[in-house]
Amino acid sequence: MLSIVEPPVFSAAWENQRDSDIAGRDPLGADVIMANLPAANERGCVDWLMTEARRLADHCSVSNAMDARAALRDLGFLVASAVKHAPGLDISPFEPVLQMLGRLADEVPRDSVYSYATRNPNGARRRSFTGTAEEELFISSVAEATVSLNVAVESLNEVLHDREDGEKQEKRLVEALQVSRSSVDVLRANLLEVKRRVSPELFSSQLRPYFPDLTIGGETYAAPGGAQMPLLVMDAMLFADPAQEPDAAAWHQSYLDENLRYLPPAHRAVCTAARALSESPATGRTLTELARTGATRDQFSGLLKDVLRFRHPHRQLARDNMRIRPDGSLGSGGYTDAALDRIIDLNKDALRSVEGGR
Ligand code: HEM
Repeated sequence: MLSIVEPPVFSAAWENQRDSDIAGRDPLGADVIMANLPAANERGCVDWLMTEARRLADHCSVSNAMDARAALRDLGFLVASAVKHAPGLDISPFEPVLQMLGRLADEVPRDSVYSYATRNPNGARRRSFTGTAEEELFISSVAEATVSLNVAVESLNEVLHDREDGEKQEKRLVEALQVSRSSVDVLRANLLEVKRRVSPELFSSQLRPYFPDLTIGGETYAAPGGAQMPLLVMDAMLFADPAQEPDAAAWHQSYLDENLRYLPPAHRAVCTAARALSESPATGRTLTELARTGATRDQFSGLLKDVLRFRHPHRQLARDNMRIRPDGSLGSGGYTDAALDRIIDLNKDALRSVEGGR
């Protein structure tokens, strides 16, 4: 049974339960509309999308964070669909309600990877742009991986804030790294399944267009995307290394800065605390410093290798998609596949550092 008081440190059970609670909510009374969304998208019916979105927005009387997150999900599906069919569409009528919901949610004023995946109800209430089996696989793969990565975030974060020293801490670190490796296995397996079953042609032509940038209140917000998944938080912990090359550290810092705002508040807090560790040694030791010897080092390098086992086929998938798109095309997060090269380099640098290469 989950406590009703928010835990003081990141709890995967809490975050996952909250997201499934949000999935269960329909604060705008949008269930029927959302069931008709794939058919409206098939027809490219912008009038229907705008009329329904305006009706929901006009009657929005949401007053708490959980309902606000569910409302951002549903308005996000409708507004992104309309913009897909009519690029450059004026969405300013929705700005006040989206901004109000963003403030209540303490998150960005639009949909995110969380609303698309872990806060998206299963079964008849599923929100989907296309209603296809391929999109269903994509949503459920990302959702399952996110739930699992939250467990890794919790266990690594716990060790970083562990007050124990010596053998006890080492034992806990080994356990946390093993738990994290199982989480990354889920991410890797799910990615491979999507790679097998969703062709680049289908993904790039039928799904990616439903993930446009949106400008709200003069700020441009990226669509839901992988860069918003909890792997970003893990990277903040895994790559924090006082000996990191300044150029690499600066690139990573700006990548984190750009993407952190799309994460839920508890994920953002873990990231911020992890970064403080590498910037100010007085606040504690980084994972790289803690895992220098024996079983801790083996497990840490094992985890970094496991993450690469996700990243290499994922980059190949991204490249296969980019190859059939116009030159300079971006992922939904606003990056080319060169960003994936940079992250892989950071991952390899961290591995070298753990294995004593610098
Ligand atoms: C199906 C086709 C896919 C394509 C074309 C694709 C492409 C991309 C691109 C271009 C990025 C860079 C950031 C951006 O601009 O969005 C990215 C990031 C990311 N994607 Fe995907 N992706 C796909 C599927 C998936 C799946 C199924 C998962 C997870 C199960 C996933 C997880 C991630 C993660 C975690 C990142 C952050 C970068 C990293 O940590 O390595 N992606 N993706």
